[in-house]
Amino acid sequence: MDDLRDKYIKLITEADDESTLEDLRVQAVGKKGEISLKMRELGKMTPDERQVMGPKLNALKDEINSALSAKREALADAALDERLRGEWLDVTLPGRTRRAGTIHPISQVTEEVTAIFADMGFAVAEGPQVESDWHNFDALNIPGHHPARAEMDTFYMHRAEGDERPPHVLRTHTSPVQIRSMELQGAPIRVICPGRVYRADYDQTHTPMFHQVEGLALDTDISMANLKWTLEEFVKAFFEVDDVELRFRASHFPFTEPSAEVDIRCSWEGGQLKVGEGDDWLEILGSGMVHPNVLRAGGINPEVYQGFAFGMGIDRIAMLKYGIPDLRAFFDSDLRWLRHYGFASLDVPTLHGGLSR
Ligand code: PHE
Repeated sequence: MDDLRDKYIKLITEADDESTLEDLRVQAVGKKGEISLKMRELGKMTPDERQVMGPKLNALKDEINSALSAKREALADAALDERLRGEWLDVTLPGRTRRAGTIHPISQVTEEVTAIFADMGFAVAEGPQVESDWHNFDALNIPGHHPARAEMDTFYMHRAEGDERPPHVLRTHTSPVQIRSMELQGAPIRVICPGRVYRADYDQTHTPMFHQVEGLALDTDISMANLKWTLEEFVKAFFEVDDVELRFRASHFPFTEPSAEVDIRCSWEGGQLKVGEGDDWLEILGSGMVHPNVLRAGGINPEVYQGFAFGMGIDRIAMLKYGIPDLRAFFDSDLRWLRHYGFASLDVPTLHGGLSR
């Protein structure tokens, strides 16, 4: 029995893989294994012999079994160690910055505008890009045959044959979000509404999809003076200059009365735009006091509330701030352009941390 023990312990110690171990198990303690056969012989022994041999054989069988499982575990540990060594990875290596994506200038500028207006107490509101004809036009005091509808080069959605309802449109401006915000929140209200707008137009300064941000402030005591201050604060913060001069030019929009287009003083010396100095004026937005008909359409009593609204082209102010010459490049998805004009993804614009670093 000692020979048997020494033989198997040695073989188990020397085994270097799982299947050799399994063969050894079958040979020793399997159904027809050497030790199992010996145990069968117990039946032919005298009770005295059996009393001695039984426990010995059982002990041997236990010893072989635990040697087998200890070895099996050791082999598994070694295999795991081996695999871990092979799959070693230095997680402290720096990232590959060349592969990092960038934030598109439109997204960046939208974030900048949002940060500035958030600081003045404006929340962000949104509306659908496929808009009802009523929200995009009628509710904004642009009735059925108003020339403004034709001027806007509207994209109309398809209606099933025989469906007499006016077709939905791709919103031509963010102004319908004024109506939706009034419907949703009532007054007083202070929101900006950035988003995509659509007009059938395409050349160096027009793309069929572009971006606007709408502003709306309603309360019981809001005047043009509040509009002027708000826009001045915005322009100073956005262009990161201490002084700007704004010019309010009388204009006309169906949804505001009075209406004003706003220009900022700038110079183009040496082809380089400087805001706040020089003899040129640059138009950046349309604005005015919200027309009573628009307030009524939004469910607000114009005898109690009034306020201002403005609409600004995001693409346009992005081009001005970051010296981007061609509007169409915004939407070409040219990787070289995106890498050049894009912004680091973790530099979120804030007023305290800096808008554009
Ligand atoms: N919706 C106008 C446009 O797209 C801009 C505007 C908005 C003007 C709000 C006045 C008030 O040109």
